[in-house]
Amino acid sequence: MKIGILGAGHMGGAMIKGWLRSKQVQPKNILVKGGKSGTAEALQAELGFELTQDINDFAKVDVIFLAVSTPLIMPMIEQLKEILIKTNIPLVSVSAGVPIQEMQEVLGEEYPIAHAIPNTPAQINQGITGISFAKKINSDEKKLITTAFEYLGTIMEISESKIGVFGTLAGCGPAFVDIFLDALADGAVLHGLDRETAQTVAAHMVSSAANLMLETGKHPGVLKDEVASPGGTTIKGITALEKEGFRYATINALDTIMKS
Ligand SMILES: NC(=O)c1ccc[n+]([C@@H]2O[C@H](COP(=O)([O-])OP(=O)(O)OC[C@H]3O[C@@H](n4cnc5c(N)ncnc54)[C@H](OP(=O)(O)O)[C@@H]3O)[C@@H](O)[C@H]2O)c1
Repeated sequence: MKIGILGAGHMGGAMIKGWLRSKQVQPKNILVKGGKSGTAEALQAELGFELTQDINDFAKVDVIFLAVSTPLIMPMIEQLKEILIKTNIPLVSVSAGVPIQEMQEVLGEEYPIAHAIPNTPAQINQGITGISFAKKINSDEKKLITTAFEYLGTIMEISESKIGVFGTLAGCGPAFVDIFLDALADGAVLHGLDRETAQTVAAHMVSSAANLMLETGKHPGVLKDEVASPGGTTIKGITALEKEGFRYATINALDTIMKS
């Protein structure tokens, strides 16, 4: 599969790294166009993919991903329009803010478009991507896009109306977890554990707790009850968290994004 991607910032860069790390895509089969700051050039020096500033080169790829900032998605589609209409290359936008319908207004209802929200763990092939497809996309085009995202981790087909909330949870969530990890490590450092050990333990604990939920299929409340014995230390910690509005703060973070 020959992949074309415009934008090699945080998300685009994570996708490129993930494809190369998966060993399913060779550097010569990833064509990248970056912006003007040199980010893509620096990444290319590290990873060795194909780099271009000529938009016409994208006529030779099998699938095109747009990983530029949201306000640039539609101008980018306008720039690519001639090539796209001529070639019918499937187009995937990973922008949080541009619905399929808006892209169809430029490319037509028949055009093979997907709107997908991956997340940065894609760079270690542990991402989760929600994908919404245009109605008229055919099964081969769908398979091509799905396969490219499967190289980056887990995928989930999701309706366009739910892609916003999916992106808030999966796309913004890693930053919430990063803050939680940092705070957990701070708490352990406060009581004498060195920073490196504290961070390693916190990261393993969070990832193993999440894996336990995924593997057992148990509700997180049930797993919490299995740790919190009556009158024990864990329930004291939970009480302290709830006193500070831990759950509300978390729910409110998602709610605030959705309402913004
Ligand atoms: N970050 C996430 O976790 C995440 C998750 C899901 C979806 N997304 C979506 O991914 C998209 C990119 O987000 P990001 O966080 O990766 O932003 P970012 O780090 O700012 O990356 C955007 C990249 O686009 C490049 N660019 C600007 N103009 C360009 C042009 N004319 N042609 C090609 N590339 C151009 C920029 O290059 P220069 O710096 O050189 O200008 C920059 O590297 C957004 O639409 C966002 O909604 C992000």
